Amino acid sequence: MVRHFLSAADLTRAEVEALLDRAQTLKAEWRNGGHPRDANGALPLQGKTLALVFEKPSLRTRVAFEAGMTQLGGHGSYLSANDIDMGGRESVPDVARNLSRWVQAIAARVFRHATVETLARYATVPVINALSDREHPCQALADMLTLHEHYGRLEGLTLAYVGDGNNVAHSLMLLGATLGVNVRIGCPLDYRPDPEILALAERRAIERGVSVEVTPSPVEAVLGADAVYTDVWTSMGQEHEAARRRPVFQPYQVNAALMTHARSGALFMHCLPAHRGEEVTPDVIDGPQSVVFEQAENRLHVQKALILTLLGL
Ligand code: CP
Ligand code: NVA
Repeated sequence: MVRHFLSAADLTRAEVEALLDRAQTLKAEWRNGGHPRDANGALPLQGKTLALVFEKPSLRTRVAFEAGMTQLGGHGSYLSANDIDMGGRESVPDVARNLSRWVQAIAARVFRHATVETLARYATVPVINALSDREHPCQALADMLTLHEHYGRLEGLTLAYVGDGNNVAHSLMLLGATLGVNVRIGCPLDYRPDPEILALAERRAIERGVSVEVTPSPVEAVLGADAVYTDVWTSMGQEHEAARRRPVFQPYQVNAALMTHARSGALFMHCLPAHRGEEVTPDVIDGPQSVVFEQAENRLHVQKALILTLLGL
């Protein structure tokens, strides 16, 4: 059966833990200038191609996938909206059916989550959600690896997310709950997480003896937290809402005053790109508690581990 990764909830606890372990091994190998090789000395993805179908811009996701494929002996083929105009020049099912004839996996960054679901329905190779309006599961994998590296564990930690309760928050809630992390979301009332995703995350959290909570108070969200996370106030595709959103999100800015409510020395996290002076002040994102570039580096390691896992390698 073909395995897809459309949601952070698509992997079981055991699968995520194995994937993060593998990412850590790949990272150590890469830092020592090496790559995994099979018994014949071949790189594991030799001759294999990952198609990158991107409807929106990307720095981290794209380069992490392309560099990851290169390091494992394969190739990433990037297709922007200008190249294939998915859904315009060609239907989404036909894009999936064509790509499946040439490549071994597809990573897709889409506006509507339904598009990545349609790709998965028609593809005969694994489809990876490289960000949709609903989730950003590759990001959450890198974030959990980063937290684990800093604390030596995940179980029982508290991660506070302050800002828009959308894609990044959804994947953090789901993956955090799966791994035994308490997740608190501080967001404006009109920007709360999707109730279905919240309910699923809460069920997973209860199984692990932790909690997922949503509050309109940023201070309540970060109180005693081990890490404080934020994301842009205006996501890609919502640029026309930027002026309306700014005053609503201003009280949710992560600044030195808000950080004082977290555990002393708490990490600051951001998926990037960041807008300094909006969702986070420069002293916080460029300060000693910030791990944003570690999160960015870890995109490489988790995405390599993810491809190997989905290909059964
Ligand atoms: N964090 C993240 O996904 O970055 P990009 O949009 O640059 O890929
Ligand atoms: N919420 C942001 C994340 C970018 C990585 C967006 O969707 O644009």
